[in-house]
Amino acid sequence: MDNIVLIGFMGVGKGTLARALAGKTGLYAVDTDDLIESLTNMKIRKIFKKKGERYFRELERQTAQWLAQNVRQTIISTGGGFYQVENLKEIGTVVYLRADFDWIYKRIIKSKNAEKKLKKRPLFKSYKKAKNLYRERVEGYERVADLIIDVEGKELDQLIEELKPHLPTSK
Ligand code: S3P
Repeated sequence: MDNIVLIGFMGVGKGTLARALAGKTGLYAVDTDDLIESLTNMKIRKIFKKKGERYFRELERQTAQWLAQNVRQTIISTGGGFYQVENLKEIGTVVYLRADFDWIYKRIIKSKNAEKKLKKRPLFKSYKKAKNLYRERVEGYERVADLIIDVEGKELDQLIEELKPHLPTSK
């Protein structure tokens, strides 16, 4: 479908870019974690704690089905593990936001609400664990991407310009 699906590691800035793009283009932006939180009326952190990661991955699969069936011409930001859903390509053009792990880590640590950002992300509890997860995933992100955008050192406006030619147009 003619959506844009932003994938990439936790904290790389998928949600920030999705919202900035929406603000500039008049398209809507939705986030898979937000959809899951509204579906379950639970915070992601709580879902992990009470139900476990496997259950969360099942919710991601369910959300992916719903998106493919119901959502058009929208910018979709995703959780860092969402790229593993089977029907990813059916949802839209997959854009991988790429950056080195240490750049991502610094981005989170330096942010105003760093504590909140880390708390929100159960898989980012330790630097070492998160780095291993990053290493495990890098290849997968690249494999499923239709387009790769290197985000390090770029302003939001520059990223928006790079993405513009790939955005859904109203027909
Ligand atoms: C996850 C990333 C999180 C969230 C959940 C699991 C992951 O989203 O979906 O904590 O597996 O990488 P962000 O990428 O928005 O942090």
